[in-house]
Amino acid sequence: MAERGRSHWNSRTGFIMAAAGSAVGLGNIWKFPYITGENGGGAFVLVYLLCILIVGVPVLIGEILLGQASKSSAVGAYRVQGGHPVWTFVGLMAILCSFALLTIYSTVAGWGLHYVYLAITNQISGQSTDSISALFQTLQETGWLGATWQFIFLAVTFLVVSAGVSKGLERWAMIMMPSLLVLLLIMLVNAMTLSGWGEGLDFLFGMRMDKLTGQGVLEALGHSFFTLSLGGGMMVTYGSYLRANDDAATASVVTAGMDTLVAMIASTMLFPIVFSFGLEPGAGPGLLFVTVPIALSQMTGGAILAVSFFVMLVFAALTSAIALLEVVVAYLIDEHGMLRRKASLISATAILACGIPATLSAEWFSIADILISKCLMPFGGLGIALLVAWRMDAALRQGIFEEGSALARFYRFWLWMLKYPAPISILLIILHSVEII
Ligand code: TRP
Repeated sequence: MAERGRSHWNSRTGFIMAAAGSAVGLGNIWKFPYITGENGGGAFVLVYLLCILIVGVPVLIGEILLGQASKSSAVGAYRVQGGHPVWTFVGLMAILCSFALLTIYSTVAGWGLHYVYLAITNQISGQSTDSISALFQTLQETGWLGATWQFIFLAVTFLVVSAGVSKGLERWAMIMMPSLLVLLLIMLVNAMTLSGWGEGLDFLFGMRMDKLTGQGVLEALGHSFFTLSLGGGMMVTYGSYLRANDDAATASVVTAGMDTLVAMIASTMLFPIVFSFGLEPGAGPGLLFVTVPIALSQMTGGAILAVSFFVMLVFAALTSAIALLEVVVAYLIDEHGMLRRKASLISATAILACGIPATLSAEWFSIADILISKCLMPFGGLGIALLVAWRMDAALRQGIFEEGSALARFYRFWLWMLKYPAPISILLIILHSVEII
């Protein structure tokens, strides 16, 4: 334990796996494919890639650098670098954002866990379309069933976080992320054998500019934030466990690359499945829990594929949930001097208490969702871009970016991106979400 007793990542790969683990989540496997479906494919994917590159990566570097420079979780980092009490408030909003997100994230992850159970007990493969649709309906209508799975999911998250940074977060990311990639590749190879492969690819990568709307562009921009876990103080927290000479800029680029790769592979494997069985690509949130199981139920080898698919989904969700819980736990440790075990138990219990209503009531779920995606996350993202680009000590910022970095020569360019295009784009998202544009 060096540097004031703060925990650290054991290795560079460990950090990248943990950061990518946080980024790769339901956003990549569930949300990205369905919003791509709703926005007509091709052109939307291109805009999304541009958003990741122009806005996502610069803000990601900014968040990680801020944590690395302050060696503190979000609230402390914002307070020290911002130099005005208002920044403490912005930091607290970030903690609230992660807290609130985990309450609804664990609802959907709990559904995923239930489907792992259904797949293992062979209740998906070979079943009729009606009985599969009924599975999801039962899950939504029988609140306690979802709540039980949500509890189990949060209990596992708690166990990993309470084990600490290198023994919990890093160790499990090193196991789950490679497994996730292997499972994803198995699904991809299977998709290549399907009759809908060509149609799926064309849907994803064919340029249909006419399908792209202004609304779609803003949705792509918003999603680039969500998928890279920005705006909720999470990357600040993970960055705070880096050492001063670690190359945060390169690690951020690799993290964003892995996140994008997973989103691409996930959609490349999902759409051929959807098309091969004559299903709808724009099925919305039901895509994963109804459309995909229907397709899997009719496929050769569907029983094994269903297990792989939902285990993969749960791994993706779990590494993200661990990161979300860590944001709250690190805050309690750093700001309130709590021990890790106690902090993890208190936060996980509070999240469960606020999360169960989200599982029981679709209305509660959507209020939390709107609060997070329309308010806390965009304002949090704007805050971080402004803080790092305009308020943070310039010498400290440049020193920590350049020290030991293979990307040192891009410092000025990065700073420019963070000063202008990033806040302007986020402002557009905010204006759009309050329906001014
Ligand atoms: N990036 C995650 C996903 O794609 C979601 C997410 C948003 C997140 N903000 C986060 C995960 C903060 C962990 C921490 O699903």
